[in-house]
Amino acid sequence: MGTPVDPVPEVIRQALADASDAPGYPLTAGTPALRAAIAAWVSRACGAGVDGLGVLPTIGSKELVAWLPTLLGIGPGDVVVVPSIAYPTYEDGARLAGATVVRTDSLTSVGPTSRVRLVWVNSPGNPTGRVLPAAHLRKVVDWARERGAVVASDECYLPLGWSAEPVSVLSPQVSGGSYDGVLALHSLSKRSNLAGYRAGFVAGDPALVAELLKVRKHAGMIVPAPVQAAMVAALQDERHADEQRERYRARREVLTAAFTGAGFTVEHSEAGLYLWLTRGEDCWQTVDWLARRGILVAAGVFYGPSAGQYVRVALTETDEHVAAVAGRLADA
Ligand SMILES: Cc1ncc(COP(=O)(O)O)c(C=O)c1O
Repeated sequence: MGTPVDPVPEVIRQALADASDAPGYPLTAGTPALRAAIAAWVSRACGAGVDGLGVLPTIGSKELVAWLPTLLGIGPGDVVVVPSIAYPTYEDGARLAGATVVRTDSLTSVGPTSRVRLVWVNSPGNPTGRVLPAAHLRKVVDWARERGAVVASDECYLPLGWSAEPVSVLSPQVSGGSYDGVLALHSLSKRSNLAGYRAGFVAGDPALVAELLKVRKHAGMIVPAPVQAAMVAALQDERHADEQRERYRARREVLTAAFTGAGFTVEHSEAGLYLWLTRGEDCWQTVDWLARRGILVAAGVFYGPSAGQYVRVALTETDEHVAAVAGRLADA
């Protein structure tokens, strides 16, 4: 269903343990070591220049997805745009703020008079595994800048490109070399198997990040000190992330072959942690057919009304379970 199952890498556990004597309040802004590690990683992984980049650790990325509209002062009468098929928390967060949600992938369908304050993009996408090309992201950023809206790019699957290379909103080909109005949200949950630690961060427009920091300080949205230390270790080590990516690559190959062999069509799924599948029938029929074989998948309708004929299969299962799924589908 999507929760990491492989062990937390030893280098990260050691850093957490070494920082466990933490009687004082941690820094909401992150320790200098963590801020430097985030900036260095964003520069490497997103192709972003570090000059002028705002960075801030978050308690996993879900909390920021859910609270970003509120933290930015978005409220009733404002519009938040979310992808047509999307991780549900974008909509939840807009509703928590009392804003109006518009579900679309095409900004031309948003009326010229509507008060759009925030546009969410998610590439690689959950649940579809779709990668948005740089030119598409650039258009979104240009459109938002013209209207003074913020683009929040949820990039928590960025390191997991398979048949397409994901691009960050912070890369110069998208941002035009300026961080104005753009925020990229990242997470160590999947890259480093740290979902249980709650370790994420945001990078982008320094003025927006400063505003977030100010509110979050007062709201007590602080990453615990031992987790901050663990994040430094995780961000400075690419080896464990490469090993984890190879595990997912192998599972993806087995599952793609197994589901295709059983008559499923795989759509998008060019990156990220999911296979987006259809049998051309209502998703609950597919969920039911698979459940009878002891295979649990997520129904497409969870992610948007246009996804009613799809199911989402996560690559986050042990090799043993993945092999069992392949075996059951082969016998189906
Ligand atoms: C698209 C997307 N964004 C954000 C999250 C939240 O991840 P976390 O809070 O573990 O960083 C998830 C989790 O599955 C996700 O799929």
